Amino acid sequence: MTGDSITAPPQVSAPESADFLADVIAGLSSNPRTIPCKYFYDERGAALFQKICELPEYYVTRTEIDILDRHRADIASQLGPSVELIGLGTGAGTKTRILIEALENPAVYIPVDISENQLRQSTALFQKIFPDLEILPVCADYLQSVVLSSPRHKPARNIVYFPGSTIGNFEPDEAVQFLCRIANVCYADGGLLIGVDLKKNRQVLEAAYNDSASLTAQFNLNLLQRINRELGADFDLDQWRHRAIYNSNAGRIEMHLISESDQFVRLNAHKFHFRRGEKIITEYSYKYTPDEFAALAAKAGFNFVRMWTDDARLFGVFYFVTALE
Ligand code: AVI
Repeated sequence: MTGDSITAPPQVSAPESADFLADVIAGLSSNPRTIPCKYFYDERGAALFQKICELPEYYVTRTEIDILDRHRADIASQLGPSVELIGLGTGAGTKTRILIEALENPAVYIPVDISENQLRQSTALFQKIFPDLEILPVCADYLQSVVLSSPRHKPARNIVYFPGSTIGNFEPDEAVQFLCRIANVCYADGGLLIGVDLKKNRQVLEAAYNDSASLTAQFNLNLLQRINRELGADFDLDQWRHRAIYNSNAGRIEMHLISESDQFVRLNAHKFHFRRGEKIITEYSYKYTPDEFAALAAKAGFNFVRMWTDDARLFGVFYFVTALE
């Protein structure tokens, strides 16, 4: 696994402010107007997202945990013994812990995370819980290239673990490109365990992204606050409202910020005009049927093995393998 590079998903990066400014200007100048969702996750945004994960309407996190918990033995036996487990965006490690507890004699665990703090804390915790497990944390943006160290014991195979349905925040063609990078990290006879949010009825989806405690609204509006604070813009937060809709043709939740009035916003040397009712798209969250996701992963060279799901088929934990060569 030494020297492989992978690119990664939208939300874990700590972007340079020059990139941030250029991305926001480009996004607000485009039609439709957009702001990349990776910028949601400043300190307040990350804390709000944690709270979203605990909301009754946001079924995603608890359903994925339940699936892992229920099928841990089965999942572990599919992955096999002595694996090198590479966790992308595994955060505090709640899901990974369930997985590692079930694995047979894992060779090494390599968590990759942009947040040094988070990585240090989860590594310390994992070292305590799994004293015999070699842990090689990598502090990096998994959207960029990542260099992974070599483990002490030769693993039987490389398994990439990518939970949380973060793959849904990519456009499908970008998702294929990202999965191609993962396939290179897996090598031949490797595996990918990935959490994917499934298609379901509009009511359940829209409730999850328009929660009654308005945490998702705060999360969305925080983006404008961040742009004001870090880039010196003058968004008037009272003149914007959050809306999330399910676009069933495209199979995605769309997070919008809607202009409540005809207004101008200044950013640097730019002055943007927004009509009343005009939207800025801040995030897509794609939902897939099991067949659609298996077909998407196949374009990156992954062969579908199994999907574990919950009784209501809200969420899928998919397992794919690369060819034997
Ligand atoms: C991180 N990602 C999978 C979340 C999602 O559901 O697409 C981000 C999110 N946006 C609003 N609520 C949660």
